[in-house]
Amino acid sequence: MRITIIAGARPNFVKISPLIREIEKANADGHSLEYSLVHTGQHYDQNMSGAFFEELEIPLPNINLAVGSGSQAEQTASILIQFENYLLINPTDLVIVVGDVTSTMACAIVTKKLGIKLAHIEGGIRSYDMTMPEEINRRVTDSITDYFFTTSDTANLNLKSEGVSDNRIFFVGNVMIDTLLYFKSRFKRNPNFDLWNLTKGKYFVLTLHRPSNVDNKGLLCDLLKTIDENCKGNPVVFPVHPRTEKILKSINFQSKNIIYSKPMGYLEFNYLVQNSMGVITDSGGITEETTVLGIPCITLRENTERPETCTIGTNELIGTDPGNLPPYMKKIIEKKWKKGGIPPLWDGMSSGRIISHIVKLFENERR
Ligand code: UD1
Repeated sequence: MRITIIAGARPNFVKISPLIREIEKANADGHSLEYSLVHTGQHYDQNMSGAFFEELEIPLPNINLAVGSGSQAEQTASILIQFENYLLINPTDLVIVVGDVTSTMACAIVTKKLGIKLAHIEGGIRSYDMTMPEEINRRVTDSITDYFFTTSDTANLNLKSEGVSDNRIFFVGNVMIDTLLYFKSRFKRNPNFDLWNLTKGKYFVLTLHRPSNVDNKGLLCDLLKTIDENCKGNPVVFPVHPRTEKILKSINFQSKNIIYSKPMGYLEFNYLVQNSMGVITDSGGITEETTVLGIPCITLRENTERPETCTIGTNELIGTDPGNLPPYMKKIIEKKWKKGGIPPLWDGMSSGRIISHIVKLFENERR
């Protein structure tokens, strides 16, 4: 059986690492799964891409489509043309896409147009906010997916309410957590940790990259100002995403407590999170990681496609109004944050379940 795996942007790399490990394990156990890895090149910097391949032990891709920067339409168009060419020369039985980035949607479209089976890992999650590019990507992808591998019961219910039959939905848990737990013992201290005077449990971590927070300079400034004024002198480490960096360069914002850094590798970033007092973010994946690490997390978004991080985990969704931040930051500083639990099947074994389902599905088809 031939499988083609797609990865394009930073969160994808975290999701494909355990899948590839499980495919190799299955082959060692006597199965014969031939896989190829396609990197679309949506993220291309060493610190957004290369470092993740090295740290997460991902083999070099068979091809890098090198789509690079551009509008989402430009990135999509380039992937459509190039990935079609690739699949025509490199036939496959199944394409696996993960997550909700532009590359996920573009490769899904090419796959189905060529009549190839499509699996979506992290299928079925919905923010119901069509202003988010990721929600459009999720909806388009899921409208043509054959096999859905889901992270939560909410995702299962969403898919069922959209008419997907039970036999195409596989509730397997969360592959991001497979990576988190597998690499936890290797998390490493950033060499700047001491230079920045950080003490365990006495600093915040901040990440911001969503267009809704960072493309509006006024809002970005107000968010940073509020965080700076309400951290009570605790440092706030802010690994800056390239999208945010471009905008930050054009505004003149001075802060006392915010420490700006380049985007970090996976092992250093998660060391930082694991030892922090709390995280302020607009990322979806980070809310899953903080839930499993038991670290308080404030999400600067109006909605989430990962409600279990709030209902079960340590996440609080507070909207994007900077005025909402102070009481939540105070709760973290005063150690009055809620205790969280771990959502079902976020146990580090999701990729193993996915690969056994795939093996069975294709064995049944051959019979
Ligand atoms: C993308 C995903 C988002 C995901 C995020 C994680 C989409 C629509 N969005 O957003 O879901 O949470 O990645 O990082 O797919 N850039 C660099 N170097 C890089 C990569 C990007 O400088 O290695 C610059 C680009 O030139 C662009 C900006 O960063 O100006 C944004 O990159 P892009 O891939 O368009 O989307 P993200 O905002 O990263």
